Amino acid sequence: MQHLLDPTDLSIQEIQQLLDLALDIINNRQAYSHVCDGKKLATLFYEPSTRTRLSFTAAMMELGGNVLGFSDARTSSVSKGETVADTVRVVSSFADIIAMRHFKEGAPHVAAQYSRIPIINAGDGGHAHPTQTLTDLLSIMRELGHLDNLTIGLCGDLKYGRTVHSLIKAMKRYEGTKFVLISPEELRLPDYIKNILPSNYIEVNTLEEAMPMLDVLYMTRVQQERFANQDDYERLKDSFILDAKKMELAPKHMIVLHPLPRVNEINIDVDDDPRAAYFRQVENGKFVRMALIYTLLKKANEPNKCQRVVSPTSHKCTNERCITRTEPVYKQSYIDSEGVERCAYCDHCLRKD
Ligand code: NCD
Repeated sequence: MQHLLDPTDLSIQEIQQLLDLALDIINNRQAYSHVCDGKKLATLFYEPSTRTRLSFTAAMMELGGNVLGFSDARTSSVSKGETVADTVRVVSSFADIIAMRHFKEGAPHVAAQYSRIPIINAGDGGHAHPTQTLTDLLSIMRELGHLDNLTIGLCGDLKYGRTVHSLIKAMKRYEGTKFVLISPEELRLPDYIKNILPSNYIEVNTLEEAMPMLDVLYMTRVQQERFANQDDYERLKDSFILDAKKMELAPKHMIVLHPLPRVNEINIDVDDDPRAAYFRQVENGKFVRMALIYTLLKKANEPNKCQRVVSPTSHKCTNERCITRTEPVYKQSYIDSEGVERCAYCDHCLRKD
């Protein structure tokens, strides 16, 4: 059985197969309308979501399957104190595949250890969001025709923006990718992502500087719900705003992506620009999730591919939002390419207490 917890769970070839399947689904909707007849997707959403949950739901319905689950943890047994491990053990008896969104980083990784059915990470705290990345890749593919030799500007909340973290992990594997980072000082990338950036990345202070170099501009919302101090959020929330005037500085072929929801970071005067691809991006999300659900269900009987080596440790995760702070885990430690001991659930550093 295979899960999708992180974009690196998929090789570049497997990503391409999913994108090709999504394109085939787009062109032959009818041919796929019964391929998941009798199958059930459980959507376990512990954190608010509109498009991701609806997109998973629509995807499963268009494949002929059914959907059950919850969209508010307060109405489930979680409110009685049930662990993620126990919840997925139970849900494994009712469904064939699970899409989980959780405010704790690494929660879907815990789920995958106890589940008898495939787990899809639909966003875990500020950590990762691999299905948004598949959506982004399909969008770039459809809009620009290729995924190599692209310069991508990442703008906004690079610290807590899980979509950015996952997009970097995926895009850095394509030939010739260049990243341009545009964020307030306090919202720069966490070190575990910065460490894996190719060395040719550029950091700039204004959108105006970045625009002329870009093939893709990836805008993000400042993630209010992850701030400990709301004054900080207020101070930072409008740091970068894209508008029609700034779009004049961009190449004709550049596309603007945004995982949505948008708050203020893209002015509505950009919406009519043909380069504004964010609403087309939403629909790609449904098609690529159809491809993913179908593929994972077909592989449900195959063994999980061996991922990185994880060992027991007596050290604790330094990340307060990590699932290991609230749920016991057995093997938590891996060593990164620079020899740093990191948490296998959320990728933050481990430290002796
Ligand atoms: C993103 C998310 O949940 O991380 N939204 C989404 O999945 N479409 C981005 C965000 O909430 O800002």
